Amino acid sequence: MSGPRLGILTSGGDCPGLNAVIRSAFIRLTREHGGELVGFRAGWKGVRDDDAIAVDESLTRGIAGTGGTVLGTSRTNPVDNGGVSQVRETIKRRCLDGLLAVGGEGSLAAAAALARAGIPVIGVPKTIDNDLRGTDYTFGFDTAVQIATDAIDRLGTTGTSHTRCMVAEVMGRHSGWIALHAGIATGAQAILVPEQPVPFDRLIGWIASARARGESAVVVVAEGYPLPGADGVYAPRGSAADGRPRLGGIGEQLASMIEAATGIETRATTLGHIQRGGTPTAYDRVLAARFGAAAVDAAAVAGWGQMVSLAGEDITLCPIEAAVGSTKMITSARYERAAVCFG
Ligand code: F6P
Repeated sequence: MSGPRLGILTSGGDCPGLNAVIRSAFIRLTREHGGELVGFRAGWKGVRDDDAIAVDESLTRGIAGTGGTVLGTSRTNPVDNGGVSQVRETIKRRCLDGLLAVGGEGSLAAAAALARAGIPVIGVPKTIDNDLRGTDYTFGFDTAVQIATDAIDRLGTTGTSHTRCMVAEVMGRHSGWIALHAGIATGAQAILVPEQPVPFDRLIGWIASARARGESAVVVVAEGYPLPGADGVYAPRGSAADGRPRLGGIGEQLASMIEAATGIETRATTLGHIQRGGTPTAYDRVLAARFGAAAVDAAAVAGWGQMVSLAGEDITLCPIEAAVGSTKMITSARYERAAVCFG
């Protein structure tokens, strides 16, 4: 008896570990369940437009440790403009039992909407931002934190040499998990996250107290941090094609404000997409591989509408709905515990 025929897509911003999911899903499906895997190009766009390739040995060989996604990605929303019936048509035309949708909050919100419309879909959570509900961690986060940590360590030594304040801007649109973890890992003198803005005077106090001890402060700021006195996020480059503000540059703004307020020479570095590219850490490869296999197992028993998730040490399932609608925020208690070490 032949196993299920599944489609897989990677959607939204790319993320280290996507290829490990694809490879693991392929191996699990073919070896354990005797099924077949079809890969849709460029996320939901490929499903909507029926643009697919076979996922086979040659596509997946040696990719567990590679960055990006061999299927490509996009931020296309499949629910817009009659997309639901196009998705249904593609599934029918390709004789698929269901879809494995690998994505962050936006992509999985689309998956949830499709599931409500009766489309058989399993969610696989990914985002470097780690701001997805329903799972303890997403793969890609560990890699991004490691890249940011390495960069901030380097900024620290040049800052100390020149007695400068250094501002490191990291990704984090709604929530500052990368900033928090990389900031703690590097012993930063201040960490600024979108969900817990602090009065500007408090930031200046942290920088001044480091200076009073003869130390140069490193400030880690998430790109979505609201500038003091500003209404909303800093997005001088307008919006991207999907309507979301194009973030990036708040570090420079903050550096000018810090220099003006303290008289301390201040420099800013924006890490940007460097945090998303390149090889995943071992942790992310393993988590991604576990997610890929678990998603196939869930599809094999028709667990549609579920998302694979990490709960402590275990991979479990939760409704996709539980992961979307709002993002996972750093609480005030968590932030203040970290803030004890600032300054
Ligand atoms: O995937 C989430 C994210 O990494 C955000 O932190 C960041 O704002 C965004 O992607 C950048 O996306 P783009 O690649 O569209 O510039």
